[in-house]
Amino acid sequence: MSLLALHGGTPYRDTSLRPFPTRTPYGDREIELLTEAVRSQNLFRHGGRMVNEFEKRFAAFYGVTAAIGSTSGTAALHVAMGAIDPNPGDEIITGAITDLGTIIPILYQNAIPVFADTHPETYTLDPEDVERQITPRTRAIIAVHLFGNPCDMNALSEIACRHGIPLIEDCSQAHATTYRGRYLGTMGDIGCFSFQQSKHMTTGDGGMTVTNHTEYADRMRMFADKYFYRGQKGPRMYGPLGVNYRMTELHGAVGLAQLDKVSETVTRRNALGDRLSAALSDVPGIVPAPVTPGGRHAYWLYPLRVTSTPAGLFAKALSAEGVAAGAGYIGKPIFLCSGALVDGQTYGDSHFPFDSPYASRKIVYDESLCPVTQRILDELVTLNFNEDYTASDIDDMAGAIRKVAEQADRLG
Ligand SMILES: Cc1ncc(COP(=O)(O)O)c(C=O)c1O
Repeated sequence: MSLLALHGGTPYRDTSLRPFPTRTPYGDREIELLTEAVRSQNLFRHGGRMVNEFEKRFAAFYGVTAAIGSTSGTAALHVAMGAIDPNPGDEIITGAITDLGTIIPILYQNAIPVFADTHPETYTLDPEDVERQITPRTRAIIAVHLFGNPCDMNALSEIACRHGIPLIEDCSQAHATTYRGRYLGTMGDIGCFSFQQSKHMTTGDGGMTVTNHTEYADRMRMFADKYFYRGQKGPRMYGPLGVNYRMTELHGAVGLAQLDKVSETVTRRNALGDRLSAALSDVPGIVPAPVTPGGRHAYWLYPLRVTSTPAGLFAKALSAEGVAAGAGYIGKPIFLCSGALVDGQTYGDSHFPFDSPYASRKIVYDESLCPVTQRILDELVTLNFNEDYTASDIDDMAGAIRKVAEQADRLG
């Protein structure tokens, strides 16, 4: 057995000689369309062609009737909240492993995030716990397809339908991938996408909200554009409170070029991730990335669970072997990562809406809320790879993981 690099042995892969491929998401088509946008002398979405066309083609790609562009994934989720229009103190149920971008829009609409625990076999929202969290104040469920793995959409759709609650999908990490043959983002009432730099398709920052409901679509368009009734004669008219999340023509141009590539990107990631899982199936003390039955994984990140040794030690040893690895993803359930939730730091000194008369109960965001989530995070090692990796890069990753796993007892 060869000595671990952490202990002075030779790294499994010498990345100074053979670095892993860095991602190159942008190319000539982006430059062409950006140039066209700049030459048009109009980078404002109204009056331009890029954002309009991007929205139309995004909707057609996903087979939905409406797509509304915005400035980030967080904005896309806020646009969804604008359509749902909760009352202050209404509750929105979501997952405990996510980016704060899922939670911020809930709070900005003065609703209260409620966290359902994580399913131990998919690392996504546990439908049984979602059911337990439902109260008369539940206004929506946000399903986060974590790392690119679909939530159990059959179960979540059934729960949402039975309680008459809209189901929103956070597809920030799960572009162009499917559950039971249908694209994620199209099975719930609203789907939200992030185009931040690391995502399967990217405009640096940006977002899209999709729906088949005409009423939601109309509200989303208005909400993201200050609720400004454009084109009306006479004094300006604005409707209910809105925001300005308008996408620029520059982002629309890059988005159009990216949309042409997203299927191939996800197909490649899916094949590479599945290859890694197959290679790890007999490695001791390792749980390869789970795939929800009926789903196809988009592998935004590759989540490995390590049961034989602390994840931090494992990630350090693996990184020394040349395979960059992180431990614990966000480290703690998202509610413990946010001062807005732990300490109620929201609007001035108010702690609104948590301690307002609008809230029907006091939720304490502490360690006891989602025990499965913490256990999974404690064992999680995340690996970054991209669509430009080759099969042999993946085989090296698997070889390095096997080398560390087989000597896990020497790590401590
Ligand atoms: C699951 C999830 N939701 C929401 C967001 C927010 O997206 P953005 O950073 O584009 O605002 C992210 C970003 O990483 C995410 O991963």
